[in-house]
Amino acid sequence: MIGRTNGVPISVTGLGCYVPERILTNDELATLVDTNDEWIVERTGIRERRIAADDEALTDICLPAARRALEMSGVDPKSIDLLVVATVTPDMAFPSSSALIADVLGMPDAAAYDLSAGCTGFVYAIAQAHGMLAAGLAQRALVVGADVLSKILDWTDRSTLVLFGDGAGAVVMERVEEGGFLGFELGADGSGGANLWLPGSGSRKFENPERYVKMNGREVFKFATRVMVSSAEAILEECGMSIDEVDVYVPHQANVRIIDHAARKLGVPEEKIVVNVHKYGNTSSGSIPLALADAADDGRLEPGKLVLLTGMGAGLTWGSALIEWTHETTGAAA
Ligand code: ACO
Repeated sequence: MIGRTNGVPISVTGLGCYVPERILTNDELATLVDTNDEWIVERTGIRERRIAADDEALTDICLPAARRALEMSGVDPKSIDLLVVATVTPDMAFPSSSALIADVLGMPDAAAYDLSAGCTGFVYAIAQAHGMLAAGLAQRALVVGADVLSKILDWTDRSTLVLFGDGAGAVVMERVEEGGFLGFELGADGSGGANLWLPGSGSRKFENPERYVKMNGREVFKFATRVMVSSAEAILEECGMSIDEVDVYVPHQANVRIIDHAARKLGVPEEKIVVNVHKYGNTSSGSIPLALADAADDGRLEPGKLVLLTGMGAGLTWGSALIEWTHETTGAAA
């Protein structure tokens, strides 16, 4: 799917994030599996990640992020009429995490559902919300991107364990005077699905249903370096813009080598790239809003800036969004 928005200006009016308190360093991981800080930093750029407590589930980390976004936007939670939670680690298959969150935050009029698109979930979810708002079906949306992948990792598998962390981000989306979202490109290729999957997590029967993330890292790496470039190029062309016009580039935070490759191919200079994978690892659906919040807090994400978001992940999926940022969002970072 690719398209320019239809001229109804819709933007992010509030942004908030949250990460669990517990910091897990590479050195600590080296006491659990056969790995070391040097390997992890060189191959991924990751130095530490946050890990949810035993009794901390997805909605527990979504709520503080959502509250911060709502507070920043000044929107009354009661007036939210759409809540989309992008995640692959809901509290449970049903009820949806979004229904639970809508209840706690007091959103009696909200349509609430979870959306599963791997690490691309947040980009899919803002595109969904945009469509509802632009069509006039909803007036005010809360979109949350969050995952607690630590709950579905095999803690004896070094090839996946070192890559992921837990985190949540949320945005409020509303109609604005001008600016905001310019276009979206989203895609999925299920033929590559088996390169990143969670066997035994649904209705398909497996002989040995270990419910842990399985990944063919090299294949995902090849896929990622391809789509992070092609998706960004496609949305820029669709919107009639060039990469030089982009002020802030927010790629999915999976691996610093993937980010560097994409930025080099696209021609994005270093000062425009947002990177926080060193402190959070890959937080899946939380990754892009967490990076947006860090950019806001370090002064790079200001009203008027052109922002390019590109994600990729399980599915395999990918997606990009182009936004003219409209609101002051300092204070959003976790
Ligand atoms: N510590 C030490 N050694 C390790 C570790 C580890 N944690 N993991 C693997 N190795 C070893 C391997 O066993 C291998 O050893 P061998 O040569 O003796 O067989 C060696 O290191 C090299 O392994 P490679 O897999 O070739 O390493 P590579 O350079 O490809 O890096 C990595 C691996 C980091 C996983 C990389 O392939 C990658 O980043 N892939 C993309 C992953 C990704 O982005 N996934 C998220 C997608 S988003 C979503 O939806 C969740």
